[in-house]
Amino acid sequence: MGERLAGTVADAREAAPAAPAVLRVIIDAKRFPALGEAPPRHVLGPLRLTLRAHEVLVVTGPSGCGKTTLLNLVAGLDDELDGRIERPGQGRLAYVFQEPRLLPWRTVAQNLALVLPAGPDRAARIAKALAEVGLAEAATTYASRLSLGMARRVALARAFVVEPDLLLLDEPFASLDRATAQRLRLLLLDLLETRRAAALFVTHDLEEAVMLGDRLVVLTASPASVATELPIALDPAARRDEAAVAARTAELRGALRDLGSLP
Ligand SMILES: Nc1ncnc2c1ncn2[C@@H]1O[C@H](COP(=O)(O)OP(=O)(O)O)[C@@H](O)[C@H]1O
Ligand SMILES: [Mg+2]
Repeated sequence: MGERLAGTVADAREAAPAAPAVLRVIIDAKRFPALGEAPPRHVLGPLRLTLRAHEVLVVTGPSGCGKTTLLNLVAGLDDELDGRIERPGQGRLAYVFQEPRLLPWRTVAQNLALVLPAGPDRAARIAKALAEVGLAEAATTYASRLSLGMARRVALARAFVVEPDLLLLDEPFASLDRATAQRLRLLLLDLLETRRAAALFVTHDLEEAVMLGDRLVVLTASPASVATELPIALDPAARRDEAAVAARTAELRGALRDLGSLP
C-alpha cells in the first residue's frame, strides 16, 4: 500500500504541467578557426541549457566568455559547432543585438517593416508595436536622428512586432543612463508579461537579472560552461519594487560569492 501511495505521488508530480522546452542548447565545443596570426580558439563548451516556454533565463559571465557567440548560435547566425541547437516547436525568434542595429537611412516604421511580411495588417501591427514602446510619434523619424535610448526602444519594438516565441537579448540596456535603463527594463517587463515570450537574456547587471529573470545561469571564463545556476523567481509586483529587487539581488550576490562564481 505504502509503495503504491509513493508511486501515486511520483506519478502526480510527473504529470504536473511542466512547460514544454522551446530551446535546448547542446554544445560540446564551439571553436573559431585560426585567422592570420591568431590561433584557433575554443570559446564555448561543454555547455547545456534548456529553456521552457514563457521562461526568462538570464545568462551572465565574464566579458569575452562567449555570451554573444552563444546567442549567435541559438539564432542560427553561426552554425559551426560540435553539438546542436534544438528548437522544439520551431516558433518565431527575435534577436535584440548588443547595438540597436537600425538602418539609419530608413524611418523608424520602415525599420520595423523590414522584419514583417507584407500583408493587410502590417501598418497596424507596426503602429501598435511603436505605441507599446511609446514611440507612436516617431514613426516617420529617420533612425539616424534617434537618441540611443530611443534606438533601443525601436530595437525592442522590432523584436516584439514579430510576436516571437523565443526572444534573444544581448545586453540591450548597456550604455544608457540609469533612469533611461530603468524605464526600458519596466517596459520590457510589461512586454514579456503581455506576450509571454521565452527569453534568453544576457546581462552583466545582477539587479537587472533579478528584475527580469526567472532563472540565472553564470558562465565560467572561456571556454564557457555553466558555473552556477540559481532560481530568481520574484512575483510580478516584487519585480517592480526596487527594495524587493535590491534585497533579492543581495541574497543572490551572497550565494554567488559563497559559490565562488560572482560575475
Ligand atoms: N568571429 C570570431 N572569430 C574569432 N574569435 C571570435 C569571433 N567572435 C568572437 N570571438 C572571440 O570569442 C570570445 C567570446 O566572444 P563573445 O561571444 O563576444 O564574448 P562575450 O559576449 O561573452 O563578451 C572572445 O575572445 C572573442 O574575441
Ligand atoms: Mg557580448
